[in-house]
Amino acid sequence: MNSDGGFDIERIRRDFPVLKREVNGRPLVYLDNAATSHRPVQVMAEITRFYRDINSNIHRGVHTLSVEATERFEAVRERMRDFIGAPHASEIIFTRNTTESINLVAHAWGRTFLEAGDEVLISEIEHHSNIVPWQMLRDARGIALRHIPMLPDGTLDLDEARRLIGPRTKLLSITLMSNALGTIVPVAELAELARAQGARVLVDAAQAAPHMPIDVGDLGADFLACSAHKMLGPTGVGVLWGRRELLEEMPPFLGGGDMIASVSLEESTWNELPHKFEAGTPNIAGVVGFGAALDYLEAVGMDAIRSHEVDLTSYALDRLIDVPGVTLYGPLDPELRGGVVSFGLEGVHPHDIGQVLDGEGVAIRAGHHCAQPVMRRLDIAATARASFYLYNTREEVDVLEAAVREAADFFGGFGG
Ligand code: ALA
Repeated sequence: MNSDGGFDIERIRRDFPVLKREVNGRPLVYLDNAATSHRPVQVMAEITRFYRDINSNIHRGVHTLSVEATERFEAVRERMRDFIGAPHASEIIFTRNTTESINLVAHAWGRTFLEAGDEVLISEIEHHSNIVPWQMLRDARGIALRHIPMLPDGTLDLDEARRLIGPRTKLLSITLMSNALGTIVPVAELAELARAQGARVLVDAAQAAPHMPIDVGDLGADFLACSAHKMLGPTGVGVLWGRRELLEEMPPFLGGGDMIASVSLEESTWNELPHKFEAGTPNIAGVVGFGAALDYLEAVGMDAIRSHEVDLTSYALDRLIDVPGVTLYGPLDPELRGGVVSFGLEGVHPHDIGQVLDGEGVAIRAGHHCAQPVMRRLDIAATARASFYLYNTREEVDVLEAAVREAADFFGGFGG
């Protein structure tokens, strides 16, 4: 495990102490990064430093610690602005996670600006968090919810997308990378079609932002959502980016402290951006820790991370395709997918695969991955899913392959 993909993987691994753990007597092989990544010591140290040396509430006090806390917190907003190429730091809203960010748009924008007859267009490969809020909006507002179908290889039917995007489309809300299959969606192309019809575009970048360079301008996005915990940061911190003019005209999502300009017992007026959308004390230490995660990602380089994962994915697909009884889901071209490899083993339930792999120290996710429509389209109940990140290695893929062969042998009698 030497220098790989333009960065020193041994050095990176040293920053993640959990990778030295043993699980069931074997070295941990952590391949569940699409669910949550691990955090490097730099992120943990930043959080500890914040609690140890500062630990005050933000935007509220005149005392030194509160001013320092506010400066640290606001510096991360600027850091995130830069990370996604957004024009203004005030367009970055800190939420709890991607789910909350999408719900914020569905409530504050959707319930204000959409009416019966308007259409929201999603795709069949969305995570539930980019399906359910729109179903709730449909039921509340009588809008129509349409979806771009998935083709058998896990990519989207772009001809059908062109047909579906029309004058009634008011919002295209679409994932940039499928969490279940890894499919990378040509969002910029679809966004251009949607914008030509006057529609807005929300990009669910929960899976993409940790793994590839993101530029909201290049994507043609109006809103973008992602979560810190999948990108080396803490849990409980999410981001919503929105174009300033849209955020300005949206009412608040949650009411409470910090989001107001003035309150009387009769009525309230709203604070300016971004505070209008950040009611209550946020996860201050989490946001500060997220800043260290963004520093870490940028020091390694998002292009280098992407090429490393293309290499690992391509290697994993090559290794797994030859295992007897294995079915691989999603596009086979590693350039068209992120570092997510979903697979099944003939006659073996994915949970059983997961258990055998856990016995070998290999952590994967088994289930429907909060993407039940994908499972329904593939006519399966679940998949086993290995998902990679910057600290994974080809040697770990070898361990994965050996463990899958063992599961095939144990349950299916395919051994090979
Ligand atoms: N959405 C996360 C996943 O795909 C939790 O595992």
